[in-house]
Amino acid sequence: MTNLLILGGTTEANALAKSLAEQGIPATYSYAGRVDNPRPQPMPVRVGGFGGVEGLARYLRDHAVTHVIDATHPFAAQMSNNAVTACRETDVPLVALTRPAWAEQEGDRWRHIPDIDRAVDALSGPARRVFLAVGRMHLEDFAAQPQHHYLLRLVDEPGSLPLPRCDVIVSRGPFTEADDRALMQHHGIELVVSKNAGGTGARAKLDAARALGLPVLMIDRPILPQRTELSSVTQVLDWLAHS
Ligand SMILES: NC(=O)c1ccc[n+]([C@@H]2O[C@H](COP(=O)([O-])OP(=O)(O)OC[C@H]3O[C@@H](n4cnc5c(N)ncnc54)[C@H](OP(=O)(O)O)[C@@H]3O)[C@@H](O)[C@H]2O)c1
Repeated sequence: MTNLLILGGTTEANALAKSLAEQGIPATYSYAGRVDNPRPQPMPVRVGGFGGVEGLARYLRDHAVTHVIDATHPFAAQMSNNAVTACRETDVPLVALTRPAWAEQEGDRWRHIPDIDRAVDALSGPARRVFLAVGRMHLEDFAAQPQHHYLLRLVDEPGSLPLPRCDVIVSRGPFTEADDRALMQHHGIELVVSKNAGGTGARAKLDAARALGLPVLMIDRPILPQRTELSSVTQVLDWLAHS
């Protein structure tokens, strides 16, 4: 009997959940619990960390999970690392559903940065108006560069923020190039800081930055352990049928 665990929190995971539910394939969707009102899913949902590798391995055994699909965000490196180790330990087949990284196009002014810490370092210097599109989790790090005026776009109301000068927009997207261009013009943005998330939902800001000739600090993806990676729901369904 098939019993899948989807590690979710992404558009790709949502699309997979919809497809599995339509085909009547039993699965549970796992959220980390980072946002206030996670999207409902057409299958049982669990919320919160498992308790590291050990906790995930225990969960897989206790719930007789037959397959794990890691459809987390490309920057959710801890979860992805834990999944590789726990699945190896419990002998549960694992596949990652990933999206291609964004690639630079003609007209882009990207500077590649290896990680968040280096992005913070790269912001030293005089005050600028910065669209800081890195999510809520890393804002604390940017408190080391308080001279800038930041524009933040977050999924939930953030409460108190570690940045003395900022404007906050609460929105889940998806966003359009025209809207993001107007937003950046309205806020007088001079620099965009982005993670290389890939996908369509968040790329409008990069298209807008190109149209406006703005520089982008592009934080490259973390390196993940060797695992089988697939890039579409159809490929995952094929893998399930043959594994
Ligand atoms: N990082 C981003 O930029 C980003 C953007 C959009 C969405 N997300 C989504 O937000 C979630 C958290 O991302 P993150 O970067 O904070 O992850 P992370 O740093 O890799 O994970 C930290 C810990 O959070 C728990 N966790 C993460 N994803 C989980 C999931 N789907 N289900 C249950 N527990 C989970 C695990 O706790 P335990 O060790 O206790 O199991 C994990 O060790 C992920 O589901 C990801 O897909 C992340």
